[in-house]
Amino acid sequence: MENVAIAEKEVFPEFLETQNMLEIKELVKVYPTPKGDYVVLDGLNLEIKNEEIISIIGHSGCGKTTLLSMIAGLNPISGGEIVLNGSPIAGPGPDRGVIFQSPSLLPWMTALENVMLGVKEVFPHGTNQERLDICKYYLSKVGLGDSFDKKATDLSQGMQQRVGIARAFALKPKMLLLDEPFGMLDSLTRGELQDVLLEVLNKEKITAMIITHDVDESIFLADRVIMMTSGPKATIGDTLQVEIPRPRKRKEVLEHPEYYNYREYLINFLEGH
Ligand SMILES: Nc1ncnc2c1ncn2[C@@H]1O[C@H](COP(=O)(O)OP(=O)(O)OP(=O)(O)O)[C@@H](O)[C@H]1O
Ligand SMILES: [Mg+2]
Repeated sequence: MENVAIAEKEVFPEFLETQNMLEIKELVKVYPTPKGDYVVLDGLNLEIKNEEIISIIGHSGCGKTTLLSMIAGLNPISGGEIVLNGSPIAGPGPDRGVIFQSPSLLPWMTALENVMLGVKEVFPHGTNQERLDICKYYLSKVGLGDSFDKKATDLSQGMQQRVGIARAFALKPKMLLLDEPFGMLDSLTRGELQDVLLEVLNKEKITAMIITHDVDESIFLADRVIMMTSGPKATIGDTLQVEIPRPRKRKEVLEHPEYYNYREYLINFLEGH
């Protein structure tokens, strides 16, 4: 059977394009607490297509970070299944990049050295110069072209987050998992980095899942917005397909005839859950 599947992929390249990057089936997460088990997620189902960008919104504490950390392989699942690219997840791996709200850089290293971390393992056959070039390219992309040698402690919060994003890009993951990546940034930096993120995701054909509290951001970035119900026993309450083609320009999105309908739909969901 396996051979048949491979043959199909070779004959029909579109087969690959319509394949799911991620399949989550009947996922359950239970945290043991002194007061007994706390069921955070219960029977959550979600599929993400190759190269699709989804955003996740839901009230604080519903289990968004829990979900993301299980996909990242950093948090064990209690039931159900998470299948990435055809295989069940067994711990963290270079196929998934993770970006959190705070980048956790190594403070004694420079911006460039922080991005270089891990790149050697991912590109063991490249020369050091090639690896440096990759890191410098992504640092420049996020607007740090003249800060390669600045120590992490000498960078502003926004600059540190840029380094974290460059580091995730440089590792060339198949899938990027972002947990409120721009939550702590001013709106100008936020907008700038949203544009960079979309550009790189498009160019590198990366599948992405972005958790955000910002309804506008959830629409601007994603092909599909996933709405989570409030916990305990949270699950997917609804999804919204954003029919605005990529690549996207902010002005075009804001002026899109459906934009305010999308916005209202999401706000109504959040108010009702
Ligand atoms: N290690 C843990 N042990 C026990 N309970 C936990 C643990 N981690 C998270 N929780 C609880 O699980 C629930 C979901 O937490 P999680 O951090 O996933 O929510 P979230 O949707 O990301 O919230 P926010 O929007 O505030 O970031 C919360 O009630 C939280 O208190
Ligand atoms: Mg969270």
